[in-house]
Amino acid sequence: MNKITKKFPGVHALKSVDFELIAGEVHALLGENGAGKSTLMKVLGGIHQLNEGKIRINGIETEINNVKDAQKNGISIIHQEIVLVPYLSIAENIYLGREPLLKSGFIDFDTMLENSKRFLDDFDLNIDPQTPIGKLTVAQQQMIEIIKAVSFDSKIIIMDEPTSSLTDKEVDFLFKTIRNLKAKGVGMVYISHRMNELFKITDRITVMRDGEYIGTVVTKETSNDHLISMMVGRELTSFYNRTYIEKSEQSVLKVVNLKRKGVLEDINFELKKGEILGFSGLMGAGRSELMKCLFGIDIFHEGTVFINGQKIMIKNPNDAINNGLAYVPENRKEQGLFLGKPVDYNITIKILDKFMKFFRVDHHYEDEQVHNYINELSIKTPNASQKVGNLSGGNQQKVLISRWLATKPKILILDEPTRGVDVGAKAEIYSIMNRLILEGVSIIMISSELPEIINLSDRVAVMSNGRISKILNKDEISQEKIMYYATGGS
Ligand SMILES: Nc1ncnc2c1ncn2[C@@H]1O[C@H](COP(=O)(O)OP(=O)(O)OP(=O)(O)O)[C@@H](O)[C@H]1O
Ligand SMILES: [Mg+2]
Repeated sequence: MNKITKKFPGVHALKSVDFELIAGEVHALLGENGAGKSTLMKVLGGIHQLNEGKIRINGIETEINNVKDAQKNGISIIHQEIVLVPYLSIAENIYLGREPLLKSGFIDFDTMLENSKRFLDDFDLNIDPQTPIGKLTVAQQQMIEIIKAVSFDSKIIIMDEPTSSLTDKEVDFLFKTIRNLKAKGVGMVYISHRMNELFKITDRITVMRDGEYIGTVVTKETSNDHLISMMVGRELTSFYNRTYIEKSEQSVLKVVNLKRKGVLEDINFELKKGEILGFSGLMGAGRSELMKCLFGIDIFHEGTVFINGQKIMIKNPNDAINNGLAYVPENRKEQGLFLGKPVDYNITIKILDKFMKFFRVDHHYEDEQVHNYINELSIKTPNASQKVGNLSGGNQQKVLISRWLATKPKILILDEPTRGVDVGAKAEIYSIMNRLILEGVSIIMISSELPEIINLSDRVAVMSNGRISKILNKDEISQEKIMYYATGGS
C-alpha cells in the first residue's frame, strides 16, 4: 500500500500511509486508539475507498472498490467488532453470500453443513454448525469469524484485535493456526494492543500515529519501550499510577451469601471505602454474572446486599444507580453504547435529570460536562456530535466510561475497563481510577489482565466456578497465587 490517504467528514484518518506485507509473514499494526489501523485495513478489505494512493498485490496495481474485489484478490478481514448475523446458523454465516448451489439452483445445505462441521473440527470446536450465532459466547463468535476468514483460502488475512475476548487457551490455539497459515505462505496483518502477543507471534511491526506512518521494525530487534515511544511520541513515565492511602475500614458494600441458581454460590465479600477490589478468574468463573446481579440486571435467588451498613433491595439498574452504583459493562456494543447516536448523547444519557432546570435541559451545563470528559479522557473525536459508531474502538470505550463517571457514583464497577484500549489511554484510565479513590469512591475492577489486577488492586477476590475461592490481601497478591485459586485451588 503506497501513500494511502483517507478522509472522513471532519477527520483526516490516513495521511499518505505506506504498508508492506510479505507472503508468510505476520505483520503487526500498532498505534494508539484512533491512529488509523482499522481504517487502513478496511481500505485494503474494500470496506472503505481510498482518496489517494495505490495498492499493489503481488506487484500488480489493483483497484479494490468493494468487499468482493478484496475477496477476489484473496484478502479477508476478521473484524474488531463482530459482524456475524446473530439469527443465522454457524454454517450460514460462514457461507454468507457464497452459498454452494445444487444443480437445481437451490442452496446446497448439506455441503455447507458438512464443510462447516469439518472446519469446526479442525478448530477443536465441538458445536453443531446449525446453532444460531446469537447463542454462542463472544469468544466462540470470534472463533467463527476466524474460521470464516480461513475458509476463503485467503492469501492475505487481516486480524483486527482477534484476541480481545479469547481465553488464554483459545489464544494459544489461534497462534497455532497462525503458524500453520504462515507455513502455507499466507501473509497476516495482526492488530493488537497486547504488546506481549506481538512479541510472541509477529515478524515485523509497523507503527502508526495520528493517521501517519511512523516506521516499521523487525520484532526481534525492538523492545517494548521503543515501540511505546514510537506510538505515543514520548516516553511514558508512570504507567500504573496508584497512591496507597491509609486504609479505611468503613464498609461501603457488603454481600452476604448471595446465590444465583446454577451460576453463583456462597458469595461473600466486602468493599471498603476508597479501595480497589480486583476480581480475577478465568473466563466463565462468574465475575460478570455477579456484577450484573449487584447492579440489578440479573436477579439473585438468595442473599443480602448492604450499602453503608444498610440492607438494600436492588430490583433493577435504577435501584442500583439510586444507591450510588455504576457499572461499566464489558461488552460495549451489546450492553452499552448507542452507536448511531452522538458522543454527547451517549455521555449524558444517564444523568439527563441533572441537566433539567425548570423542566428544560440545561444545555450549557451539559456541554460543559461533555467537554470535560472529552478532555479528561482524551476522547479522539472531531466534535461532541460525532456518531459514536464512527469513533475508533478504544475511544468508544472511553465514551462508555465517561457516561458512568458522569453519574458521580460512590461505587464504581468496571468490567474489563481497558479492553481494546491503547497504552496511553490505559495510563489515563488508571490515573482516573486513582483520583476517584482519593475522592472516596470505591472501585470493583474485573480484569483478565493480571498485571493490571496486581498493580492496581488493594485486595483481589479470585473466583472459580461461580464461587469466590479466595480473597488475597495486598501483601499476598501474586500471579502464582491468583492462578492457583482461579484454577480451583482452595
Ligand atoms: N466511518 C467513519 N466515519 C468517520 N470517522 C471515522 C470512521 N471510521 C473511523 N473514523 C475515524 O478515523 C480515525 C481512525 O480510526 P480507526 O478506527 O482506524 O482507529 P484504530 O487505529 O483502529 O483505533 P483502535 O485502536 O481504537 O481500534 C478515528 O479518528 C476515527 O474516529
Ligand atoms: Mg481499530
